[in-house]
Amino acid sequence: MTVKMNRQILLVKRPSGMPDESDFKLVESPVSTPGEGEVLVETHFLSVDPYMRGRMNELRTNAPQYLLNEVVTGSAVGRITNSRSSLFNPGDFVSGTLAWEDYSVTNEKNLRKVNPLLAPLSSALGILGMPGLTAYFGLLEIGKPQPGETVVVSGAAGAVGTVAGQIAKIMSCRVVGIAGSHRKVKFMLDELGFDAAINYKIPSDIRGSLARACHDGVDVYFDNVGGEISDAVFALINENARIPLCGQISLYNVGQTHGGPRIQSQLLARTALMQGFRIGQFADRFEAARAQLAEWLAQGKIKQSEHIVEGLENTPRALIGLFRGENLGKQLVKVC
Ligand SMILES: NC(=O)c1ccc[n+]([C@@H]2O[C@H](COP(=O)([O-])OP(=O)(O)OC[C@H]3O[C@@H](n4cnc5c(N)ncnc54)[C@H](OP(=O)(O)O)[C@@H]3O)[C@@H](O)[C@H]2O)c1
Repeated sequence: MTVKMNRQILLVKRPSGMPDESDFKLVESPVSTPGEGEVLVETHFLSVDPYMRGRMNELRTNAPQYLLNEVVTGSAVGRITNSRSSLFNPGDFVSGTLAWEDYSVTNEKNLRKVNPLLAPLSSALGILGMPGLTAYFGLLEIGKPQPGETVVVSGAAGAVGTVAGQIAKIMSCRVVGIAGSHRKVKFMLDELGFDAAINYKIPSDIRGSLARACHDGVDVYFDNVGGEISDAVFALINENARIPLCGQISLYNVGQTHGGPRIQSQLLARTALMQGFRIGQFADRFEAARAQLAEWLAQGKIKQSEHIVEGLENTPRALIGLFRGENLGKQLVKVC
């Protein structure tokens, strides 16, 4: 009998600055067999996410550190091919924290069933998964957008940003997106219906472009990137502005951050609220939020966009692409 083989991608070196493909290694070993309460999942799509960069560092961030020479873990969707669980049958589609590998053995408690008839399977990693939920709770719970208000989203052509901006449109706000290419600007205006869009990489004054796009100031700033882009937005916040602090991707590959403009006096003068959040804090409300997002998707009120790289072996390249701005929408890797 031929032994079924499993390809896995290990982290073999902690990146210094921007990750490099040589920080990872592809190895092969026989597929494992599930024990009691476990299942074998054939990976269909892997999600690569900015937070993974922090887990590769020597020092622990808000998620557990990846171990060297171990397979990298992350969100994935797949199909069960062998089950020793009473909750799942072979053929079931599931999502959960799996690994950068063709086949994962995992405990039944790590998985959630996915109905591929409700939305394409990959949606469970995008709009109906962590990025969609992050946009939903960050914007609605902390941003609290009101009709007619101006909402600025940075990282606006990415997985979280595209959804945050579209929810703000559903809430009847004026939406201004910031992203890093002309193609992304065109996409935000033509496909997502944003009111204005700014390419922060054009070597002109981002403050001037923002001031023109936000003529009534900024009521909500959904911050995905931090750094100089956010400094420019902070200068325009209105009285009682709300700032959901979602991510700081501009700083993830930077060892030391410079002093930067300090935001406290701006928050004080405008009686504004800035609040960090982690999506896990809303876990008990995920199902209701997912149902709302699925409804908006079915009604055509939200469009989902995905950037799919083919092949498990290209997963490190897909992750690195996030920091180069190669993705438009949710970055995924199609494995099976
Ligand atoms: N708080 C939470 O619970 C939570 C959950 C999920 C995600 N997040 C955070 O949300 C943010 C977006 O995540 P995502 O999954 O949706 O990723 P994403 O936006 O789909 O992909 C990352 C994007 O960031 C932009 N970027 C990369 N380097 C940049 C830089 N130096 N300056 C400005 N923009 C840069 C790139 O677009 P451009 O072409 O526009 O540069 C890239 O496409 C990240 O900061 C992430 O850590 C937070």
